[in-house]
Amino acid sequence: MARRPGVPCPCFSRLLCLCLLLCLPVCLARPPAPHLVLVLADDLGWGDVGWHGSAVRTPRLDALGAGGVRLERYYTPAAVHAVPQPAPLGPLPGYLLGSEDYYTHDRCVLIKARNVTRCALDFRDGEEVATGFKNVYSTNLFTERAIDLIANHKTEKSVHEPLEVPEEYTKPYSSIKDVKRRHYAGMVTLMDEAVGNLTDALKTHGLWDNTVFVFSTDNGGQTLAGGNNWPLRGRKWTLWEGGVRGVGFVASPLLKRKGVESHELIHISDWLPTLVHLAGGDTNGTKPLDGFDVWSTIRVVTKFSNSDLECSYMGRTYSVYVQNESSYLDSAVTFSTGLGIEKRTSLPESNSSPWDDTLFNISIHAAIRHGKWKLLTGYPGCSHWFPPPSLFNESQIQSSDPSTKRLWLFDIVHDPEEKYDVSEKYPHVVEKLLSRLQYYHKRSVPVFYPDEDPNCDPAATGAWGPWA
Ligand SMILES: *[C@@H]1O[C@H](CO)[C@@H](O)[C@H](O)[C@H]1NC(C)=O
Ligand SMILES: *[C@@H]1O[C@H](CO)[C@@H](O)[C@H](O)[C@H]1NC(C)=O
Ligand SMILES: *[C@@H]1O[C@H](CO)[C@@H](O)[C@H](O)[C@H]1NC(C)=O
Ligand SMILES: *[C@@H]1O[C@H](CO)[C@@H](O)[C@H](O)[C@H]1NC(C)=O
Ligand SMILES: *[C@@H]1O[C@H](CO)[C@@H](O)[C@H](O)[C@H]1NC(C)=O
Ligand SMILES: *[C@@H]1O[C@H](CO)[C@@H](O)[C@H](O)[C@H]1NC(C)=O
Repeated sequence: MARRPGVPCPCFSRLLCLCLLLCLPVCLARPPAPHLVLVLADDLGWGDVGWHGSAVRTPRLDALGAGGVRLERYYTPAAVHAVPQPAPLGPLPGYLLGSEDYYTHDRCVLIKARNVTRCALDFRDGEEVATGFKNVYSTNLFTERAIDLIANHKTEKSVHEPLEVPEEYTKPYSSIKDVKRRHYAGMVTLMDEAVGNLTDALKTHGLWDNTVFVFSTDNGGQTLAGGNNWPLRGRKWTLWEGGVRGVGFVASPLLKRKGVESHELIHISDWLPTLVHLAGGDTNGTKPLDGFDVWSTIRVVTKFSNSDLECSYMGRTYSVYVQNESSYLDSAVTFSTGLGIEKRTSLPESNSSPWDDTLFNISIHAAIRHGKWKLLTGYPGCSHWFPPPSLFNESQIQSSDPSTKRLWLFDIVHDPEEKYDVSEKYPHVVEKLLSRLQYYHKRSVPVFYPDEDPNCDPAATGAWGPWA
């Protein structure tokens, strides 16, 4: 990029990552570029927000979303660990390993190459190790610092394990018996308050009128750690909707239509080109990007056929493809990212399926969205539905699929809960989508996991950090 449109996103805490892309002087030649605020909530599930009927209270987020555009067909990877970066606008706190303790800011990790588990500080202020914040709850700290940043502008983790939250936030949830869910609910409500404080600060300091505020989760909720995706199937790490269909909205006085739902297929990788363009930058000269600039479709929510878009998940490789270029979207892309998938990634081959492997090897863990359809192959990950603990006393509704089943086709628009496999009824759709998967598979980039370096051991310094 020729110009830096703003600041890379520091990831502050497991529930709250925050990007403040504040207008720099380069923007002055054009109409003033908007202030961009991206809040990335970690592991926030479909069923964890008020507007999806959750018992978890998120009044500030509900109100922001209700006054903006809610992205109701928004997809994320099945699992992500956000990594913070140094922030050129001034030191901001953050952590490196994806999951520090909210109070001690320590993280324990098994260093396999040494066969030793090390617990060390994982907290930084800008580039420096930050030792002075013991017992300060991360989300509060991040919010405070973000607000300072807003206040001083002349022009962050949130609900991931460990489940820690000040007690006052769990009080409203005393009726929730499940301890994890109770803590988690408190954490979400605290994050909600943090977002409220942040948007209040933007208003107080006169920045809100020219702000685009994006709220997004990074993947589905982890039901093993208090999250919930009800009524969607599956959870974080799976290719079921509960793993990949994300919570998101955009709030901004710059939106043409407010209080509407967008049913476009929008993907988390779309934020890079969208935000860069909004900030007045351009993406010419970058490698081909996976995302599209979706600002015009969000700003003016219009109805156009979902069949124009295709969105594909390929296990460890993830692809988005736009088959029919519309006026709102650019062109075809593929995208690969290193995603683990629970323990298993594939199933042994079997002859029990009417689909042989001529079009696509259906033992491979893959999924593709096209129009109203979603096709899954291989092992999609934990296949149950997890009702919120307050709703039923079963902790899960078991899938009745045979364990050897390797292919499903759903009409996601009418069956978002992925209950009715219609692959036998629509063999031509299955064929088409299998061919499409094969197309992506052939072009996918192998995932590279470098060997662990035993020199990462923090024993000498007491803090996780760069060692090479
Ligand atoms: C790792 O250490 C544990 C005890 O600390 C020991 O039981 C185990 O055998 C060791 N594993 C290897 C692969 O050396
Ligand atoms: C939000 O602001 C209020 C009032 O300043 C403060 O008491 C509260 O701790 C803040 N909440 C968060 C999560 O930062
Ligand atoms: C980027 O490339 C497009 C197409 O080549 C061109 O129309 C546009 O002017 C370029 N933008 C900038 C800022 O150079
Ligand atoms: C895209 O869709 C439009 C309208 O449905 C159609 O006219 C056009 O030919 C399609 N373009 C491609 C590249 O398929
Ligand atoms: C199909 O994929 C599975 C799982 O990745 C693999 O074990 C098997 O060898 C593949 N079969 C063919 C014919 O490539
Ligand atoms: C909960 O489980 C108990 C014991 O299995 C059963 O008697 C009761 O009816 C269940 N309640 C609901 C609401 O399903």
